[in-house]
Amino acid sequence: ASIGVDGHPDFMSKEIAEQPDVAARIVDRLAPHVLDGSLWADLALPRFDRVTVIGCGTSLNAGRMIGGALSSLGRVPVRTLVASEAADAVMEPRTLVLALSQSGETADLLNAIERLDLSRSSLVAITNNEHSTLARQADSVLTCDAGPEIGVAATKTFVAQVITGVAAALSALVASERMLRSDAVRHSDELRLMPELLAHAIAVSHEVLPSIVAGVLDEPGFLFLGQGTGVVLAAEGALKLKELSYRWAEHQPAGELKHGPLALVDRGTPVLVIDSGDPRIDRSIAEVDARGGRIVRIGGPGSTVPVVGLGRPAGPMAGARRWGPLEAVVPLQIFARDLALALGRDVDKPRNLAKSVTVE
Ligand code: AGP
Repeated sequence: ASIGVDGHPDFMSKEIAEQPDVAARIVDRLAPHVLDGSLWADLALPRFDRVTVIGCGTSLNAGRMIGGALSSLGRVPVRTLVASEAADAVMEPRTLVLALSQSGETADLLNAIERLDLSRSSLVAITNNEHSTLARQADSVLTCDAGPEIGVAATKTFVAQVITGVAAALSALVASERMLRSDAVRHSDELRLMPELLAHAIAVSHEVLPSIVAGVLDEPGFLFLGQGTGVVLAAEGALKLKELSYRWAEHQPAGELKHGPLALVDRGTPVLVIDSGDPRIDRSIAEVDARGGRIVRIGGPGSTVPVVGLGRPAGPMAGARRWGPLEAVVPLQIFARDLALALGRDVDKPRNLAKSVTVE
């Protein structure tokens, strides 16, 4: 049967709306196997000392989120490789290579894997296509189970990759005793909250973003700031905005603002800030505010877009979750789509781009 938009104006709208259900499906399937380490043990892979994450575009961003979980929660050394730049990377023994690709057919990634010396590494594919070339080449496959994604802009597959990868990472850390069980319990509870958090983020975003977007239609450039894995979300937000609206967008770690990018900020410059709970973000916001920048704060209660932290226990974990706040990606997707539609763009088929890039 052919796939339709199911009452939505476009596939992107449908795929954004599907995210809570996609998350629920993955969490229901994987969460019961996290804490006993069996999710990881079932992949039957040798022990690893370090991790290399590799991919392109949004899949690479998903990999960075998972890498953030592995290094901050398990003190695992993690390196990230942009697939098109990976050819000369030196692979140390006992490296776990996490290769991420929605399609599993991206030429830059497949070629990188072919050229790298993986003889002393194990290769795990995190893909939405278990029958893909990537899946066939991997030692083990983690399927994302997001269902077909038609819109060129990756949305639900990003969320699916991150949840799948973080679940596997937690399970690996438990299995190798790199993580306290009590921490693993808290993070696995956090995974179980994701469907609800994503649904809340969708509702809030649709409520508050239209008037914000209406005020920035003529802005030529957008800045995205974050900290920790919030920097990755900032990168993902900037990528979505570029590919859908054809406007310039840049992402930066918030602390880097004062080392150069602050010069971009003028009266009215839109600055989207992913506030993951680290109080140092306030300083960056004050710097933007003093120059008349238009701040869109995506964070907890009291933010411009209050999507982070609903129903989550307060305390240190809330501010330092290490692999999130994943729900903050939702307003970034909706912001980019709303802006693109207001500018008359085709959000399912942006110019110059293909869903699966099978040339180098
Ligand atoms: C994301 O919105 C893009 N369309 C693009 O960056 C994409 O994620 C990239 O081309 C990788 O594709 P893959 O996941 O199929 O490998």
